[in-house]
Amino acid sequence: MPKLVVVTRDGSEQTLEGQSGLSVMEIIRDAGVDELLALCGGCCSCATCHIHVDPEFANKVTPMGEDENDLLESSDHRDERSRLSCQIQFNDALAGLRVVIAQED
Ligand code: FES
Repeated sequence: MPKLVVVTRDGSEQTLEGQSGLSVMEIIRDAGVDELLALCGGCCSCATCHIHVDPEFANKVTPMGEDENDLLESSDHRDERSRLSCQIQFNDALAGLRVVIAQED
């Protein structure tokens, strides 16, 4: 199984089993990492699944849509690595992807 590394807000790192066909948010949520709230369940309407993506994978992840971009605009913690994890579909090309959960707005 391809791995997904998630760094929580206290800086601790966990390596999860990635599964193709699931979103990065679903993989993190299903692993029981509860600080990623994902309140809207992946409909791109809450921004509580905000993560920072390792720049090495910037060109490999699902491109950002307009709705996602608009939602991220409302975050004080947005930077050039910001994404909504529910909008990134995991696949084998993302093996080893490392993401950091964004600070809460
Ligand atoms: S889970 Fe709500 S925007 Fe991603």
